Amino acid sequence: MKKMKVIALTALITIPITLMADMDRCVSCHGVDFEKKALGVSKVVKNMSEQEIKTALDGYKKGLGGVMKALMIKEVNLGVDTDAMAADVYSESRTKGFEEPTDEFIFQKRLSVRTLHKLKMNIKKANPKKDMKKIVSQIKSIAFTMYTYDNLLKEKINFKTIKASKQKLTMANILKSVKSVKTCIDHSFSENEIVKCRTEFLNLAGTITRNEERKIKKKQKANKPPIYTGADSVDMTKYLK
Ligand code: HEC
Repeated sequence: MKKMKVIALTALITIPITLMADMDRCVSCHGVDFEKKALGVSKVVKNMSEQEIKTALDGYKKGLGGVMKALMIKEVNLGVDTDAMAADVYSESRTKGFEEPTDEFIFQKRLSVRTLHKLKMNIKKANPKKDMKKIVSQIKSIAFTMYTYDNLLKEKINFKTIKASKQKLTMANILKSVKSVKTCIDHSFSENEIVKCRTEFLNLAGTITRNEERKIKKKQKANKPPIYTGADSVDMTKYLK
């Protein structure tokens, strides 16, 4: 009885692991999308039909194949079901993966994640009442850098359309937002994906800026007569006491 339990348990643990590892092993010889001639010898599996793949795998099971059949005989003799494997290989080879990101992209992504990580730590340490100004200034400066170096972002973002949020931006809300942008960038594999995360961050910075503008306007209104601050304006403050 005890032995049965142990066997059942080992089966439970080992079966999913071998099934998962299968496809990962093929990649080293056949390529990520089965697009290579394995070791310069095999057919390009990506160009084979599901039936052809199954026939080849069944062949290896019976000990048949080409000059390097020994390698594949080892693979299929791990107890695989050739029907399921042929279906998996076929669908894997026809499913488009993402383009491998460039080194430059990965470097830029790491830089962004690091910056946002530091910001996150600063917000966590910050005193919600006293340090708001400091955090706000950090957010604006990071947003400025993001905007300056990302041309795609410049195309997507229009500051004029960013509206001040009705609800009050608390330190907790800001932290939530920064965390979400950081995770978003960390999980991105292309410029197009990253730009979506950065848009979220610029919206946060934009909301902060609009809120500040609103406060300044309110103050100006209170200081009647209205102060003209445009071109050629004269500093009226000394007459306003
Ligand atoms: C160590 C390198 C290696 C690994 C790992 C490997 N293969 Fe192969 N594969 C080969 C070679 C070499 C051939 C050609 C063998 C021959 O001479 O028949 C081949 C042939 C095949 C074929 C038949 C293609 C043909 O030429 O007719 C299929 C299908 C296949 N492999 C699928 C897989 C799958 C699925 C895995 C992972 C579970 C895998 N292979 C793992 C090297 C490898």
